[in-house]
Amino acid sequence: MNDIIIVTGGAGFIGSNFVLSWIANTSSEVVNLDALTYAGNRKNLLSLDRDSRHSLVKGDIRDTALVTSLFRTHKPRAIVHFAAESHVDRSITGPDAFVQTNVVGTFSLLQAAKTYWETLDADEKSKFRFLHVSTDEVYGTLKPEDPAFSETTAYAPNSPYAASKAASDHFVRAYFHTYGLPVLTTNCSNNYGPYQFPEKLIPLMILNALEGKALPVYGDGLNVRDWLYVEDHCSAIRAVLEKGRLGETYNIGGSSERTNIEVVHAICDILDELQPNKALGSRRNLISYVQDRPGHDRRYAIDARKIASELSWQPQQQFEGGIRKTVEWFLQNMDWVNDVRSGAYQQWIELNYAERLSL
Ligand code: NAD
Ligand code: DAU
Repeated sequence: MNDIIIVTGGAGFIGSNFVLSWIANTSSEVVNLDALTYAGNRKNLLSLDRDSRHSLVKGDIRDTALVTSLFRTHKPRAIVHFAAESHVDRSITGPDAFVQTNVVGTFSLLQAAKTYWETLDADEKSKFRFLHVSTDEVYGTLKPEDPAFSETTAYAPNSPYAASKAASDHFVRAYFHTYGLPVLTTNCSNNYGPYQFPEKLIPLMILNALEGKALPVYGDGLNVRDWLYVEDHCSAIRAVLEKGRLGETYNIGGSSERTNIEVVHAICDILDELQPNKALGSRRNLISYVQDRPGHDRRYAIDARKIASELSWQPQQQFEGGIRKTVEWFLQNMDWVNDVRSGAYQQWIELNYAERLSL
């Protein structure tokens, strides 16, 4: 085996942050397999253009011949699997792609990884890792008084996205129990930070507020999410990859529960301070309560005691500092923003918000 990892979905939001941090924090190489869907962007990896330790392969995780040849050629010591359809609203209007990539794609990867793993000698076999990156949404929704999700919380996915991720988690688990494939699964809360595609709450609100557009808050704005700065998610994945116990799942969270309206207020206030808009006054005036997301989970919260006690991992970034850094990143990277807001992006925005905002 070589000191190489395969990363899937490494041109997306979390995957590209992970690849950048992996290259900065280790001496090993990355082969990055990404289909470059609307959510994948080569420009996230621009700083690695001349780095021989990173190579981007455009391809689909369901392409067994391609994945098999990547395993055979590179003989990696691990695969870190981010590739997915990741947006809940899109899963409501078009669930098929979620079944294809998240379920069928993960199954295909497991099959190819197992075939490769079976060719390794006993020592290599024990060192190989298949790390599956998943979500807290598989656990369903919490009431205000409920304890946070732990690794033993029963699965109760509520959206087609969550159901597809739950199915993939179960396949990963089954490959450990049935075939002994050395797998690890992480279930993380909401990430935010650089390179997040502006269909998700935080980047969408930053850009709309900056441009004086309506800020579409679903329902009553009191749904709660636990927010984790993306760099902290990347360090947690590195810790699980290096020290996690085989077959185990690890919950990852930021201990930063916020209602959506609190998040939107924070963004408005930071932008008012950094780029005052006299005509508007407070950007909070742009908030518009719109039609709710069907099946909208009320609250997510993560009990991250297992990863803290077993692997000594703790998030480093507080939400208040992280959201400020994120707003500043978007202000400083409007070229990136303009680049990702292609025609396809505009079509999605119109489709998702036309009815909600009664445009
Ligand atoms: P993203 O949508 O930003 O990126 C997904 C990437 O996967 C893109 O680069 C896309 O091109 C690629 N991809 C999609 N289909 C593919 C296919 N068939 N073959 C190869 N590549 C394909 O997603 P993200 O927000 O970075 O999430 C990454 C992973 O982390 C996902 O598995 C998601 O479920 C999980 N996760 C996300 C969050 C979050 O808050 N964003 C939280 C917890 C877990
Ligand atoms: O919990 C982890 C999950 O977090 C990940 O698995 C998903 O890939 C990721 O997309 C995210 O899912 P959410 O549905 O929580 O994220 P989103 O940014 O879409 O929405 C966050 C909250 O904000 C949610 O309660 C819905 C609300 N919202 C979202 C948008 C896009 C709004 O009120 N208005 C909006 O325009």
